[in-house]
Amino acid sequence: QDAKALQVAVVGTGYVGLGTAVMLAYLGHHVTGVDVDQAKIDMLTRGELPIYEPYLDELLRESAPRLRWTTDYASAIPNADVIFICVGTPPLPSGQPNLAYVAEAAQSIARHLNGKVQVVVNKSTVPIGTGDWVARILEENAVDYHANRYLVVSNPEFLREGTALHDSLYPDRIVLGSDSPEAIERMAELYEPLLSQDFAAPVSVPRPDCYTQPALVKTSLSSAEMIKYAANAFLALKISFANEIAGLCERVDADIQEVTRGIGYDQRIGPHFLGAGAGWGGSCFGKDTAALISIGHEYGYEMPILAAAIEINQRQRQLVIAKLQQHLHRLKGKRVAVLGMAFKPNTDDLRDAPAHDCIARLIELGAQVVAHDPIAMPRARHEWRHLRYQEAESAEAALRGADAAILMTEWDDYRRIDWESALRGMRHPLVIDTRRVIGHFGGAGIVEQIGKRPASRVA
Ligand code: UGA
Repeated sequence: QDAKALQVAVVGTGYVGLGTAVMLAYLGHHVTGVDVDQAKIDMLTRGELPIYEPYLDELLRESAPRLRWTTDYASAIPNADVIFICVGTPPLPSGQPNLAYVAEAAQSIARHLNGKVQVVVNKSTVPIGTGDWVARILEENAVDYHANRYLVVSNPEFLREGTALHDSLYPDRIVLGSDSPEAIERMAELYEPLLSQDFAAPVSVPRPDCYTQPALVKTSLSSAEMIKYAANAFLALKISFANEIAGLCERVDADIQEVTRGIGYDQRIGPHFLGAGAGWGGSCFGKDTAALISIGHEYGYEMPILAAAIEINQRQRQLVIAKLQQHLHRLKGKRVAVLGMAFKPNTDDLRDAPAHDCIARLIELGAQVVAHDPIAMPRARHEWRHLRYQEAESAEAALRGADAAILMTEWDDYRRIDWESALRGMRHPLVIDTRRVIGHFGGAGIVEQIGKRPASRVA
């Protein structure tokens, strides 16, 4: 295995960078993770993780001999066959991504290129054309002119938080965009273990039942950059579509879950990302749909389908509160339990979480909010310190004595709650279950779900 091992540098140890670094080391490559954040590098060097992600801890320990962490570009770049740029591209107020970190990373990389052929890979989600822009930054900042032997590749990332290692080790496809066949060749070498038939990670991360060998999609630089945006936009669109149909289902007495099951078997539609609920959140869908629209504007081009998808997503967040108001009328002084704060299960990421807007609105309406999340509570204590809510030590404790509950994130823990008895312990037995966590419910109380005819009012 070592014969094919490459030297890799990963710049940026955020979500994508960390996952990429650990995964590549796990595949046998020698990886150096670079970040300007000394505290983060110290943590990683001690073997501690700054984020929670299933399997990351195991893989980090497993790959430790081939992993190194540093703040020093000079000790990472000259040696590297492949250099990944995985820094953040947070949205600017205009919706356009902020490329300042990409520029900084490219400048720092340029100063340490070694004059041999090095492949510089963009994994951050960046506007179409950024690959060429990075190439120019490398050229302008390279110390020696002969150092322009670098080749730029766009290798977009499709991993989801919460299943990041599964998605990295068993991807549906690997997209490699470059105008250099040599660069694509080296990248294919890097991913060779994943591309070989019957790849199964030797420990820890189980192979999914429906595993198929990943497709290798070779494209131009700009097509690869567009693929990333188009993929996220399409997924966001699918969810918004399901949410739009869900609203009509409620009115005509159909059930969105039955409807999406019925349409999802059509292979042209597919069963995934049709889950109706409080809408999509997280750091990607909102950012990438806004970015696409803004890129369109730069070219004088409108994207009405995407604009509608965003609008439906915003409407969906308000719907949760409206449902509560239908039952309780005034929320002032009412104790409302919010179960789930993370934007989805198996992560402590709170970015653009629907639960945030929901809690903020409840507080605005004078409700007393008691919130719980199995993992994200400590992070929320810091990131949501502007919100005045109480923490509950367990979901059951949050529900006890509450006038209503809203279930925002479909954590498995919440499926295991004895809902019959939890509802008995509430002051008013009312749950707005936005994620279809509560199965068949025959007890006393009201469980209202998105995309299903509303339950009748509390007496
Ligand atoms: C998303 C994409 O799924 C990844 O392929 C992509 O790599 C990533 O963005 C990125 O650009 O970095 P992620 O944001 O981690 O991944 O989370 P998703 O699992 O896609 O969920 C996004 C949101 O959609 C969550 O709030 C989730 O609750 C919601 N969702 C998902 C639904 O409301 N319904 C569904 O059926 C599925």
